[in-house]
Amino acid sequence: MRLILTALIIFIVGVILYTVLPMGTDTVNAEEGTPIVAVQIPTELSEIAMIGKRGFDTKCSSCHGENAVGKNGVAPPLIHKIYEPSHHGDESFQRAVAMGVRAHHWKFGNMPAIDGLTRADVKAITEYVRELQRYNNID
Ligand code: HEC
Repeated sequence: MRLILTALIIFIVGVILYTVLPMGTDTVNAEEGTPIVAVQIPTELSEIAMIGKRGFDTKCSSCHGENAVGKNGVAPPLIHKIYEPSHHGDESFQRAVAMGVRAHHWKFGNMPAIDGLTRADVKAITEYVRELQRYNNID
């Protein structure tokens, strides 16, 4: 009985660790620049998300990939469970753009601060990412 209980606890802890520690280990050995995740593209975007997409395509997609699917060896996908609103709220997007990001979730290195965007621009970009996330059941 005790053995079964121990095995069960180890299993549960394993599952929890597996879900809370998405460290991108699946990206080792992949060719540089290739997408990290596959996403479904919404057929429609809100007006603000469409504006955000333009900002994203000029300022973010060079690293985070088209449709925020990430680029192997460059930067993580933003359409990913760790960037869901409860874990990385909208303010973390503002902070990332204004001050850059020290590498902490992945092994891509730091994100530099991004020039030439107002808070309103970043809000639209964030809304675009959120709509992509929601469409892919990340919320
Ligand atoms: C030069 C490459 C590069 C560009 C350009 C870039 N990023 Fe990043 N970004 C990164 C990397 C690398 C990380 C991962 C850091 C880590 O390990 O957590 C990251 C992480 C982030 C995060 C997570 C922040 C956190 O608190 O963990 C957000 C949000 C983000 N980027 C948004 C953006 C947005 C929005 C843009 C465009 C305005 C952008 N990035 C442009 C490289 C880039």
